[in-house]
Amino acid sequence: MIQFILNNKDIKTELPAGTTLLDFIRYHQHLMGTKIGCREGDCGACTILIGTLNGEKMDYLSATSCLTPLGNIQGKHIVTVEGINPDKITPSPIITHHPSPITHENTEGVLSSVQKAMSDESATQCGFCTVGFVMSLTGFCMSDEKPTQENAIAAIDGNICRCTGYKSIERAAYRIAELKQQNQGDSLDFCIENKVLPPYFSNIKNRLATINKSILPINHNGHAHFVGGGTDLYVQKHDDMTDADIHFVLNGSTLRGGKIVGEYFEINSSATVTDLKNSEVLNAHFPNLQQHLKLVSSTPIRNIATIAGNLVNASPIGDLSVFLLVLDTILILNDNGKQREVELKDFFKGYKTIDKTPTEMIEKIKFKLPSKDTFFNFEKVCKRTYLDIASVNCAISLKIKDNYIEKAEVAIGGVAPIPLFLKETSAFLIGQKVDTQTAIAANNILQKEIEPISDVRGSADYKRLLARQLFLTHFQL
Ligand code: FES
Ligand code: FES
Repeated sequence: MIQFILNNKDIKTELPAGTTLLDFIRYHQHLMGTKIGCREGDCGACTILIGTLNGEKMDYLSATSCLTPLGNIQGKHIVTVEGINPDKITPSPIITHHPSPITHENTEGVLSSVQKAMSDESATQCGFCTVGFVMSLTGFCMSDEKPTQENAIAAIDGNICRCTGYKSIERAAYRIAELKQQNQGDSLDFCIENKVLPPYFSNIKNRLATINKSILPINHNGHAHFVGGGTDLYVQKHDDMTDADIHFVLNGSTLRGGKIVGEYFEINSSATVTDLKNSEVLNAHFPNLQQHLKLVSSTPIRNIATIAGNLVNASPIGDLSVFLLVLDTILILNDNGKQREVELKDFFKGYKTIDKTPTEMIEKIKFKLPSKDTFFNFEKVCKRTYLDIASVNCAISLKIKDNYIEKAEVAIGGVAPIPLFLKETSAFLIGQKVDTQTAIAANNILQKEIEPISDVRGSADYKRLLARQLFLTHFQL
């Protein structure tokens, strides 16, 4: 039995845990405001908000409901566009052959403040994408993000519109940023007072406190699979997922922000990319963390995609895999209570083949934080800047003393069957001076270590070129 709150309604369902939230909303609850576009996390038409009770506080994040299984929303508050409508509904204006333009009077009480901003700025035409934009901007207004125009635009990085044109949508987003700037206190109270949300939101935390946060024992029966966010599995194997024997583990996360243990930073493997991006410790040690992790998909995907999912997926171009390969990352695997450690460098054995038995799950990961004399960088090239899979990605970590390299680790994705730690290139760099000749000589070794193939992400020659350019870029910063 999965239990959660959908808008203002208590839900208990015995549907399979692998059922997508999108199907539940539309086909079981008949709430048709949430749209179906790509079903692959690409368009944002199905964006909803997931609210989690963290201690005394409700945190709301946007997510793509097409990639969110019911098993991951136990004990949460799910918000669709129907759930943000003001409680006081006044009749819509009568449509005539000569409809009057929408004015403040005839939308008062019908639209939330975000919907009204979209309407006033003419930020909608066919309306298919509009609900997704409204939900993302509502989530931004409720969040602890700084109320800047840049952050408002970043909040809609997972939403695509094919007919309005983005300028009017940007203006609506700026209006929400302006509104948010007036908030001096609690975001939820502010949103209720300013008609971003209806009043029932104030009681959600008391209602959620009575629902168990977790439904599934983390105990492997040898047949079931552990799934984190499922953001790639639901794209690749959508039809198999609904009835599969699955334990969802995103919900059970307890160590989301991570902590320092000795010389390592340790974090629960079910932490999401957003958890990494928001970690105070990581931001203190990786000055460009925000820019680097913004290159990983889009906000609604980052909010549900997990570290373990990214690693177990073993994609040759997994962004987190390449990022973590240069940090001496160690995986802590758990097999029904029996732990073992494996270095990430040894984890990828071949294409989609990893050093993990069917009954093991990645419980935690730990990696070394860069010291003051360590230079870390991550580069990625894809067909569009955000919300895309890399053609090639590359990370580097260099410990430098008096302009000489003391320790070097380089990893690259998209040019081999696995996310590749460049052993030879890394070894060559140790003891070398940091200059152009070193970079060029190291690239010659790198080119011998990689084996790109031609595919939809580009030709083999193009990927060799990208690998060179990304590697040399590390030395230009
Ligand atoms: Fe396109 Fe979900 S339907 S992101
Ligand atoms: Fe038509 Fe955005 S309004 S796709």
